[in-house]
Amino acid sequence: MMAKEPNKMIRQSNEILQNIYDRRSVRKFKEVAVDRKLIEQLLDAGRMAPSALNKQPWKFYVVTDKELIRTMSKQIAKVSVKQIAKIGIKEIVKSIWHYIHTPHDLNFFNQSDFIFHGAPAVIFVTALKDNEWAALDVGMCCQNMMLAAKSLGLDSCPVGLAKFIEETKAVSKLGLSKKETVHIAILIGYGDEVPEIKERKKDNVVYIS
Ligand SMILES: Cc1cc2nc3c(=O)[nH]c(=O)nc-3n(C[C@H](O)[C@H](O)[C@H](O)COP(=O)(O)O)c2cc1C
Repeated sequence: MMAKEPNKMIRQSNEILQNIYDRRSVRKFKEVAVDRKLIEQLLDAGRMAPSALNKQPWKFYVVTDKELIRTMSKQIAKVSVKQIAKIGIKEIVKSIWHYIHTPHDLNFFNQSDFIFHGAPAVIFVTALKDNEWAALDVGMCCQNMMLAAKSLGLDSCPVGLAKFIEETKAVSKLGLSKKETVHIAILIGYGDEVPEIKERKKDNVVYIS
């Protein structure tokens, strides 16, 4: 059975659904700082996510110092390139296609900051290494934060490559304990672009009746 198109009428009269459809990964930000109170709202939204056994395993490291973000970005970029090279040429082509969805995205690798995209706030999200559900919990927490950001007039981008900060000198700035690991970083700021919606696959449902 074919999946039905989402009902646009319902979506447009439902703020939560509309917010879900309006969120995009934004990779160009205005040079405007994000108020600490707004960051607190996002963190609280993240904290409201469900978590296995209610462990709430997430920990947030909020970086807003422009120079520090730039330094971290440069160091992560170096490590990421090495990691991608390790994966091999076939996977490199795949990862490039993963990022390039539209001609607009072709600017991606030309950006001077292709890790944090000039965002004024970067939230690293970590969890203890010995929690087998942490990645799922953190994912839910981050989606809450990104939807909350959209609802407050902010934009966001999840950055998985941020986990490579663990292999850089700049990681010392976060002061992580040996027991925790970086899962992802969420970029927050006022977007200076409105990316087109990326088409979603629809052939991934099986109805069992
Ligand atoms: C776990 C995860 C890791 C991601 N890592 C990166 C990243 O390192 N850099 C980046 O620019 N985008 C990253 N993205 C964003 C995806 O590219 C983006 O979500 C996807 O292309 C769909 O676009 P949309 O978010 O605008 O709907 C990541 C997304 C997820 C969920």
